[in-house]
Amino acid sequence: MRILSGIQPSGELHIGNYFGALRQHVELQAKGQGIYFIADYHSMTSVRDAAERRRLVLDVALDYLACGLDPEQSILYRQSDVPEVCELQWILTTVTPMGLLERAHSYKDKVANGLPVEHGLFAYPVLMAADILIYNSDLVPVGQDQKQHLEMTRDIAGSFNHTYGVEVFRLPEPHILEDVAVVPGVDGRKMSKSYDNTLRMFWPQKRLKKAVMSIVTDSTPVAEPKDTTSVVFQLWSLFATETEREEMFARAQAGGLGYGDVKKDLLARILDHFGTLREKREALEKDLDGVEDLLAEGAKRARTLGAPVLEAARQASGLSRSQ
Ligand code: ADP
Ligand code: TRP
Repeated sequence: MRILSGIQPSGELHIGNYFGALRQHVELQAKGQGIYFIADYHSMTSVRDAAERRRLVLDVALDYLACGLDPEQSILYRQSDVPEVCELQWILTTVTPMGLLERAHSYKDKVANGLPVEHGLFAYPVLMAADILIYNSDLVPVGQDQKQHLEMTRDIAGSFNHTYGVEVFRLPEPHILEDVAVVPGVDGRKMSKSYDNTLRMFWPQKRLKKAVMSIVTDSTPVAEPKDTTSVVFQLWSLFATETEREEMFARAQAGGLGYGDVKKDLLARILDHFGTLREKREALEKDLDGVEDLLAEGAKRARTLGAPVLEAARQASGLSRSQ
């Protein structure tokens, strides 16, 4: 089974990305051939600085590796090292109805907010379809927000197969990570690279402490019962067992527990959870050339897997010399 997913290098990854994507990708490695990539072509719709893009690609690669992605077992690569996806994207655009793309939330939301939209953002779901279809991926683990893009991928694959009367593309199964709750940011909105509200797993302790201490709380006095649905408890729960959670919530409801105490404990838990991963990341950071080599090797393996599918699409549609 081929399992594929990608993360955009559009900012430094945070614990929302960790619980919502990275950790799941790492766990799924055991179930089949993992193919994971850093979607730098996709990031071009938002990041407009060359040096920043390169820095962020390596940053995401380090996070993936530190969090347990095994480059021997799984394939990890930089999307733009497999430029064949752009050719496949073109082929797929020719069988993608405009109406399908006009319904994409990613595009519609930006238009609704009166923001300027480039063709790249409009065509984004077709590039995503190419990423997936080029390897005949079976399973694509993504968060709720990407569900619509996967449905589009299936529609686009079906449209190509139907147009040329050949089953070139396999329709991938979405693996929607529904049980993964949306991790809130320190301000209570969804934690996101686009808002200044994240907790980054590998920040230096001082910075992390400052961010944890800034988590929004209400002004209930220490002696009073606390609202266990508040952001600080939601974040704390990510790092606690069920029993610990029950104990903590009982204490909160009894009164006498300050939000500050919960924050301190949350900080300790984050540092502990990512402690050994942090050490691993620091070691990898000292050998960025080694990380680049690893990404290059991943791209080589990915291109080998993708080549026959792209060739089948070329043959089915009458491109290049007949074989
Ligand atoms: P961001 O909103 O920070 O830019 P992305 O949209 O690039 O994040 O998402 C990358 C992956 O991380 C996706 O699979 C997404 O579902 C997941 N993810 C992002 N933010 C969260 C969050 N706050 N809680 C849970 N999962 C998240
Ligand atoms: N669009 C995805 C995101 O923003 C990243 C992505 C690009 C992706 N291509 C993909 C995810 C293919 C899964 C499969 O999170």
